[in-house]
Amino acid sequence: MSVPMLKMGLVLSTMAMLTNWMSQTLPRLVGLDQTVARLGTSEKFISVVYPGQDEGWQVFGSVSDVGGKCVCRLLAPPLNHCRKEPRTTRLRQIAEHVQNVSQYLEMLDWRTSRDLQHIRDTEKKIIGVEMRVKTALNNPRTVTDKVLQDLEQSVLECIPLRAVLARFKSEVLKVEVLKREMERVSSSLNQEQTHTYSSVHQLEQREIQLQSRLHTCASSIGCGKLMGISNPVTIRSFGSRFGSWMMDSMISSSDERVWSMDGYFKGKRVFEYRSLRDFTTGHDFVVHQLPHPWSGTGHVVYNGSLYYNKHQTNVIVCYHLLSRSVLTQRTLSHAAYNNTFPYSWGGSSDIDLMADESGLWAVYTTLMHGGNMVLSRLDPVSLELVRSWDTGFPKRSAGEAFIVCGSLYVTDSHLNGAKIHFVYHTDTEMYEYTQIPFHNLYSHISMMDYNPREKVLYAWNNGHQVIYNITLLQEVKPFTDT
Ligand SMILES: *[C@@H]1O[C@H](CO)[C@@H](O)[C@H](O)[C@H]1NC(C)=O
Ligand SMILES: *[C@@H]1O[C@H](CO)[C@@H](O)[C@H](O)[C@H]1NC(C)=O
Ligand SMILES: *[C@@H]1O[C@H](CO)[C@@H](O)[C@H](O)[C@H]1NC(C)=O
Ligand SMILES: *[C@@H]1O[C@H](CO)[C@@H](O)[C@H](O)[C@H]1NC(C)=O
Repeated sequence: MSVPMLKMGLVLSTMAMLTNWMSQTLPRLVGLDQTVARLGTSEKFISVVYPGQDEGWQVFGSVSDVGGKCVCRLLAPPLNHCRKEPRTTRLRQIAEHVQNVSQYLEMLDWRTSRDLQHIRDTEKKIIGVEMRVKTALNNPRTVTDKVLQDLEQSVLECIPLRAVLARFKSEVLKVEVLKREMERVSSSLNQEQTHTYSSVHQLEQREIQLQSRLHTCASSIGCGKLMGISNPVTIRSFGSRFGSWMMDSMISSSDERVWSMDGYFKGKRVFEYRSLRDFTTGHDFVVHQLPHPWSGTGHVVYNGSLYYNKHQTNVIVCYHLLSRSVLTQRTLSHAAYNNTFPYSWGGSSDIDLMADESGLWAVYTTLMHGGNMVLSRLDPVSLELVRSWDTGFPKRSAGEAFIVCGSLYVTDSHLNGAKIHFVYHTDTEMYEYTQIPFHNLYSHISMMDYNPREKVLYAWNNGHQVIYNITLLQEVKPFTDT
C-alpha cells in the first residue's frame, strides 16, 4: 500500500488527455459522486496516477463516512496493468516519419510548381515552332536563312525541357517511396489506435469493477483496521478509580440509555441513564440491583442485556435490563478467575466481555493457555462458546483489550504512555505488533471498550468517563489480472 501511495507525487502529465478523461469521465462512470453515496457516507474519487511504465495506470478511490471515522481505500488497476503505456516513443517515431514525409512533399510541391511553369512556357514555344514548321512545309519558298535561324533558336530554347522531364521521371520513383512511407505511417497509426482502444477498454472494465468494489466497501463501512485514536473527550467525572460505563453495543439497537458500574469488586448496583446527556449531568437515573455481584470491569450491554462476570467465579451472567431478570448464566470453561490472570492493573479483570460489529466476545485465559489471552466468540443467547482463538499474548502484560471487526486490539499498559501494542486478527489467525498511541488523560485506565454502533471507544479513566473517536481503514485488495 505504501509504495504506490508514496509515488502519488510522481504524477506525470504526459498523457494529459487520458488523465483528463480518467479524472472527469471516470468518477461519473463509476458513480463516485455525492449523489449516489450511501446515506451517512461520502464517497470520494481521489486520483488517477501514472507512476511509470513499470506500474501502469493506477486509480485510487476512497469512501469515508461523514465523521471521517471510517475510510475505505482502493487501488486499481494493479501493477502491470496497461503496461502498453506510454506509447510516447512509438508516437514520436511516427511523428518523425510524418515530418520527414511532409518536408519532402513540400519540397516536391515547390519543385513541381516551378517546373510546371517552365513546361507551360516551353509548351507555348513548341506550339510556335510547330506552326512555323508547318508554314514552312506548306510554303517552302518562304524558308529563308533568317527563318531557319529563328527556328533553330526556338528549338534550342525548348531543350531544357529534357532535363525537367528527366527530373520528373526520377521524381516518380521518389513518389513511389513516399507512397510506401505513407502506408507504413498509416499502419502504425492504426496499430496505435488499436492499442489505445484496448487500453481504454481495459480501463473501462476496471472502472466497473472499481465501482462495485467501492460500493461493497461502502456498505461494509465501519469494519476495518484501526488506524488512529483521537484525543479523548471527558463526558463526566464520577465514581472511583475503577469502573465501567457503556451504551448498547448492538449495531441495530436504537437504545439511547447509558449504564455505569462503579468499582470492580462485588458490586451489584448498575446505574441507568436515559441518555448521554442525562449521564453527563448525573440526573434522572434508575438503579438495577443485580441478583449476583460482579467481578472486574469487563461488562458489556448487548441487545438490551447486560453481560457480566459473576463474582469469584468464571460464570457469565446475561441480565435482561428491561425485565430486570437473569436470562442465562453459564460457566466459561476453564477460564481463570478471581484475579488469577487479570489485566496489568489487577482488579479481578480476568474475564473481559465485549462486542463488535459481528457479535459478542469474551477475552480471558486458562491454565492450559499458560496465561495467554484467549479470544472466544459467544452465542449471545445460550452463552455457549462458538469458537476460540489463542492470541499468544500474555494477559497480565495487557492493559486493556477491545475488539473491532474481529480483530483484538491490546494495549501495553493501563498507565501513562500506553499504546495499542498488539493486534490479533481472527480472520487470518495472525497477530502483529503496532504502535497506535492514545492519550491517557487521567493516568489510569481500568476499562476500554469499542462500541461498533457509535464507532467510539469508551474508557473509564481514573474516575473520569471519556470517549475516543477512532479511524478505521478498509483497504480493498487490488484487482488481480484475470
Ligand atoms: C468524534 O467525531 C465527531 C464527528 O466529527 C465529533 O462531533 C465528536 O465531537 C468527536 N468526538 C470525539 C470524542 O472526539
Ligand atoms: C527523417 O529524416 C532524417 C534526416 O533525413 C533521418 O535521419 C530520420 O531517420 C528520418 N526519420 C524517419 C522516422 O524516417
Ligand atoms: C435481540 O434480542 C431479541 C429479543 O429480545 C431477539 O429476538 C433477537 O434475536 C436478539 N438479536 C440478537 C442479534 O441477538
Ligand atoms: C478468591 O480470592 C480470594 C482472595 O485471594 C480468596 O480469599 C478466595 O478464597 C478466592 N476464592 C476462590 C473461589 O478462589
